[in-house]
Amino acid sequence: MSIQRLKGRHLLDIESLTREEIELILDTAVPFKELFTKSVKKVSFLRGKTVVNIFYEPSTRTRTSFEIAEKRLSADVVNIAVSTSSVKKGESLLDTIRTLQAMKADIIVMRHSCAGAPHLLAKRLDVSVINAGDGPHAHPTQALLDMFTIREKLGRIEGITVALIGDITFSRVARSNIWGLKKLGAKVRIIGPATLIPKDIDKLGVEVFYSLEKGLKNVDVVNILRIQRERQKEMLFPTIREYNRLFGIDETTLTAKNVLVMHPGPMNRGIEISDYIADSPQAVICEQVTNGIAVRMAVLYLIAGEGDLNEIND
Ligand code: CP
Repeated sequence: MSIQRLKGRHLLDIESLTREEIELILDTAVPFKELFTKSVKKVSFLRGKTVVNIFYEPSTRTRTSFEIAEKRLSADVVNIAVSTSSVKKGESLLDTIRTLQAMKADIIVMRHSCAGAPHLLAKRLDVSVINAGDGPHAHPTQALLDMFTIREKLGRIEGITVALIGDITFSRVARSNIWGLKKLGAKVRIIGPATLIPKDIDKLGVEVFYSLEKGLKNVDVVNILRIQRERQKEMLFPTIREYNRLFGIDETTLTAKNVLVMHPGPMNRGIEISDYIADSPQAVICEQVTNGIAVRMAVLYLIAGEGDLNEIND
């Protein structure tokens, strides 16, 4: 597929991408990851382009990863601290972003607590918008880096079984992973308490399990999700201790050593994942973070980059 395919476009969710476009992004991330082994980890594909990162919600991984990716592509990078911006004086989201567009930004990377906020901007503005997570809706670059990591570790995605465990209702990571993994031919299982699984989730073609014992049988990958207490308006399970007892992944609930363990972070150790599992050789949580930079470089390059990928090896 031509690398022109995503030029000038937005990345708002995985649902809007074709299988070929997802594969193009994953394939493009491979040479960018190879760049990380070199002493100079920088290329000039985004020289002269301005990327603005605006995060209305807290973030460690995604914000830093985008900034590193942008700098490794030689973009001019601007980070807006919402807490010290005119947002605090009552400026609307649209006016803030219109202001950034007037400053001739080429790409806006945005995280927002409202589902659909990046889609609204993409409709109203003529700058490329990358969704860095919108409420419980979508986190496309997280799903892309998760798929990249699975493909790198297992050699394929078609036909494998991936279990997403925990708070599915409030998880944008779960939704984006389901769309992506299904498009690439994986079997997807959802495991968690009924109160944290949306009623119609099976319409997305996933199998639902309310017990770890049944759901973990013959899986290839587990992707363990955090309880998003900041989004829950009421307590949806009796106690954290009870949740950990029934759905926590530890050495007694996950005994198969060949299952790949993933977590998008931030982890709550002792709740959804034990120290033993998080630090075990089967966990690829830190590699997910490294891969996130390569995948985000690929996305930025495909949307706004100039130049040939072969330059990486010159
Ligand atoms: N995985 C993820 O989105 O982490 P941050 O909230 O730290 O960006």
